[in-house]
Amino acid sequence: MNVKLQINNQNIEIEKGSTVLDACRKLNINIPTFCHDDRLKASGSCRMCVVEIEGMRNLATSCSEIAKEGMVVQTHSKRVMESRKDILELLWADHKNECLTCEAAGDCKLQDYSYEYDIDAVNKVYEEKLVNYIDDSNKFYTFDPDKCIKCGKCIRVCEELQGVSAISFSGRGADMHVSHPFEMGMESSACVSCGNCVNVCPTGALQEKSYTKFRSWEIDKKVKTTCTYCGVGCQMELNVKGNEVVKITPADDGINNKLLCVKGKFAYNYINHKDRLKMPLIRKEGKLVESSWDEALDLVASKIKNIKSESGSDAIAGFCSARCTNEDNYVMQKLFRGVIKTNNIDHCARL
Ligand code: SF4
Ligand code: SF4
Ligand code: SF4
Ligand code: FES
Repeated sequence: MNVKLQINNQNIEIEKGSTVLDACRKLNINIPTFCHDDRLKASGSCRMCVVEIEGMRNLATSCSEIAKEGMVVQTHSKRVMESRKDILELLWADHKNECLTCEAAGDCKLQDYSYEYDIDAVNKVYEEKLVNYIDDSNKFYTFDPDKCIKCGKCIRVCEELQGVSAISFSGRGADMHVSHPFEMGMESSACVSCGNCVNVCPTGALQEKSYTKFRSWEIDKKVKTTCTYCGVGCQMELNVKGNEVVKITPADDGINNKLLCVKGKFAYNYINHKDRLKMPLIRKEGKLVESSWDEALDLVASKIKNIKSESGSDAIAGFCSARCTNEDNYVMQKLFRGVIKTNNIDHCARL
């Protein structure tokens, strides 16, 4: 069942239960959001997405307001724009103004919206409100409270999607902040370093510790691929600068619901590591010597043939890997059962 409403003088029909934000997006109206994520329960906390609805005294948060029959909505009225500007100015009151050197520059919603809404950020920061402390206790990411806008997305992702609840809000009003048990640092929490909070943080408050320094606009391409660490098949994007993978982000589609684990998210520096094996090695006179793939495969095939003719097929066993694709594992067992003629085939499902 659908409901009909009017947004910025345009008529729209949308499925019952959809939010006003859904309806705006269907009309390609750009609504700023900090705390909204389609995968999370609406929290309505940042109030950047406010709209004016005829007959309502207060501005409504479009991400949590359910679209109703006959609603008349304005998304960019003077009152709405002023409210969004006020919110941005309040956020800057205790925000470290560090865009010049911030890792998030170019990929930061606070920066984008401040530009879009003409905020004079430099004169809004009250230095005495800054805590000037960065939690870098986690091996893979840092948390800078002075760049946190308290949108709560990290906390909700950790609780609702990751199921860990490592972090939470502490304090009230202006003292509210993202914290961990007994304020002992990220590393002493139950955090499993999945980095899913880092992926959703709209500012530079949560920053991964990059192996290579780069600015967001230096990413030349994003290559969609399947994580090879286990058989789940998470979809991810390799962020490539030049010829180097400098960051991994979850792909928008895929069975992993835009989530990754610590391996998929952070364990990628082997790709460009100088010690990485790129060619097969054959032991010759006690030493491992680089060889061609043809030579290595011929050697393996001849050894298998010899063992089979001397001792029979069951003297041979094959072990495949959870780091290979399903297709690779299928072909491997087919080779052993169909060609070598043994059922001695196993798979390290647990790495
Ligand atoms: S988090 Fe965003 S707004 Fe804050 S310093 Fe970094 S780039 Fe600038
Ligand atoms: S890295 Fe993962 S487990 Fe740790 S706080 Fe973030 S979402 Fe929670
Ligand atoms: S750390 Fe990032 S995601 Fe978490 S509340 Fe602060 S700004 Fe939001
Ligand atoms: S995006 Fe709607 S209140 Fe934050």
